[in-house]
Amino acid sequence: MRQVLAAVLLLLLLRSGTRGGEALNACGRPRMLNRMVGGQNALEGEWPWQVSIQRNGSHFCGGSLITDRWVLTAAHCFSNTSETSLYQVLLGVLQLARPGPHAVYARVKRVESNPKYQGMASSADVALVELEAPVTFTNYILPVCVPDPSVVFESGMKCWVTGWGTPSEQDSLPKPRTLQKLAVPIISTPKCNLLYSKDAESGFQPRTIKDDMLCAGFAEGKRDACKGDSGGPLVCLVGQVWLQAGVISWGEGCARRNRPGVYIRLTSHHDWIHRIIPELQFQRAGPGSAQKRDPRTRQPLGRNSARYPAA
Ligand SMILES: *[C@@H]1O[C@H](CO)[C@@H](O)[C@H](O)[C@H]1NC(C)=O
Ligand SMILES: *[C@@H]1O[C@H](CO)[C@@H](O)[C@H](O)[C@H]1NC(C)=O
Repeated sequence: MRQVLAAVLLLLLLRSGTRGGEALNACGRPRMLNRMVGGQNALEGEWPWQVSIQRNGSHFCGGSLITDRWVLTAAHCFSNTSETSLYQVLLGVLQLARPGPHAVYARVKRVESNPKYQGMASSADVALVELEAPVTFTNYILPVCVPDPSVVFESGMKCWVTGWGTPSEQDSLPKPRTLQKLAVPIISTPKCNLLYSKDAESGFQPRTIKDDMLCAGFAEGKRDACKGDSGGPLVCLVGQVWLQAGVISWGEGCARRNRPGVYIRLTSHHDWIHRIIPELQFQRAGPGSAQKRDPRTRQPLGRNSARYPAA
């Protein structure tokens, strides 16, 4: 039923066409403005910065387009950053099993992993992927904004996470593998540390939420990112513009009670990102875009989605 409903909405969207007049290179402004609030399948053009990073034709991590030639993702997605010829980035896609006419495959020129990254669930789990050639922006392929370090993502703020990860710790996303979206509130670091210290399971060290990490999700579990979502974006609407607050990094299992999703804060890695991409413009919140909470907050939508590489 859900697929049928999504397909119908998608047709309506395509018929409604695009809105003109927006700067060609503006970040964080999807051109397809309709949203399926209350649903879980994403819509065509809704998250135009979402990419699939693939190896030998298989999706293994998410990522986000931040300029016409750079994709942001997680460092743990790559065991060997020199094997660029094995990787491919798929852009402009809603359904992985049916990429469709808006899909673009891009070759990878270089992978820069943050040198401070030290393995699973540690700090600095961010990587930048440079494409061989710049991509052309379309209604389905647009960059997200990278926030200036002055931007604060307050606890309680409702943000969104997207990905093609698994719908639970065991299952895989059923065909046609439609991009999933989930609204998640930001959880403060002290609260997140408290949650992660509860009910420590044998086999798991109590985890510490480091300064460059950001928690988002639900203490009760049930809705979260999961396997294969790794590297994908956590984005928040600030004023009129979507800013990427975090990169999907880790969690103890997926959607478990007291184990919300943990993301890497982009603002903590501003200097490193700036060093690799000097031309990137960082987005300030700005006076016109007062950091208000979305009035729809606390109507979270959901599904389990995930984080470690799918492969
Ligand atoms: C790549 O995929 C093909 C077909 O799916 C498979 O036969 C081949 O073994 C794979 N190669 C690697 C290196 O995984
Ligand atoms: C990484 O990949 C490169 C290119 O394929 C290869 O030359 C190198 O030996 C690999 N390094 C490791 C540690 O596997």
